[in-house]
Amino acid sequence: MKFNITTIPGDGIGPEVLHQAKKALKAIEEVYDHTFIYDEKLMGACAIDKLGTPLPDETILSCKKSDAILFGAIGDPKYDNDPSAKVRPEQGLLKLRKELGLFCNVRPVKAYEQLIENSPLKKNIIQGTDIEIYRELTGGIYFGIKQLSDDEKIAFDGCSYSVEEIERVAHLAFKSAQKRRKKVTLVDKANVLETSRLWRKTITNLSKQYSDVKIDYMFVDNAAMQLILNPKQFDVILTENLFGDILSDEASVIGGSIGMLASASIGKENALFEPIHGSYPEGKGKNIANPLASILSVALLLKHLALYKEAEAIERAVDKSLELGITTQDIDSKKDFGTSEVGDFIVDYIHNQEDNNLNFQNIHMGQSTII
Ligand code: IPM
Ligand code: MN
Repeated sequence: MKFNITTIPGDGIGPEVLHQAKKALKAIEEVYDHTFIYDEKLMGACAIDKLGTPLPDETILSCKKSDAILFGAIGDPKYDNDPSAKVRPEQGLLKLRKELGLFCNVRPVKAYEQLIENSPLKKNIIQGTDIEIYRELTGGIYFGIKQLSDDEKIAFDGCSYSVEEIERVAHLAFKSAQKRRKKVTLVDKANVLETSRLWRKTITNLSKQYSDVKIDYMFVDNAAMQLILNPKQFDVILTENLFGDILSDEASVIGGSIGMLASASIGKENALFEPIHGSYPEGKGKNIANPLASILSVALLLKHLALYKEAEAIERAVDKSLELGITTQDIDSKKDFGTSEVGDFIVDYIHNQEDNNLNFQNIHMGQSTII
């Protein structure tokens, strides 16, 4: 089959990890006989440098026409350290989410057996963890009214949610739970926030349509604690924009490295896939960034296109790379496999899925790992 993919490399290590993701897609094209037509576009600090805006119109246009969008990373320290900067790279991503109506962000978190020892958390606590975080992505405090008083002494960020905004992401979370362990935990701050009380009321009503799914409610402060005390109690976590942002970074500790977490941002017409890690500017150009989150984002993209066996091939390749220790230094400081070598292994595995006879020397020489 034929698909149009908009690629947005972005900033920092974004282009490097996206390059590996595209290599994996090319292997999928060859093995499963598909055609991916790419349209590469700018967003982020690189777009500000070239065009003066973090999100050029032509990027939005290309994304709207695409079957899926693959994104690298965004952000540059020259903006992070300047709070008075009027134009910021992140505005590009936020605007794109809003323009495309990507209201539902899914972040799967699992404790990979091969990485259990990597996490600072105890093995018996994290082993077997398998969570999906459903984060509302186009509402809440991220997109509320923002104000700064003339004397710059008072700042304001408004937070609002409508029943409709809550329901559309909730339906997707419940549907996913139906295919999993049938439990949704709504994380909110309903003891303090009016918006959270609306979430609770709306979800209580909506959950009646999903009688096979158990609904649980948890305050966000407690959830932050429970996530590392007893993560196995969670199946699907449903939450608003800001809480989801914070909890998903915390949850990445369970996975052993933030370099392993992929995400899907879904709307009615479009979908975007990206690693949850940032642009890691210190690692840029050094061939040290972990490409697996970006490669796992490709697996999510393929599932979105209903290419399930193709997605499984990618997931198996990632499992195998972890099993064999063909990983970057964030996962194992004793290993010196680079970004591109890990990508090469994934490509090789996709081409030779039946063959387990590996030649490790070849990995370093940039040759086929499978003999
Ligand atoms: C994320 C990021 C973004 C967010 C930033 C880059 C605006 O942290 O995707 O989690 O806060 O949503
Ligand atoms: Mn974040």
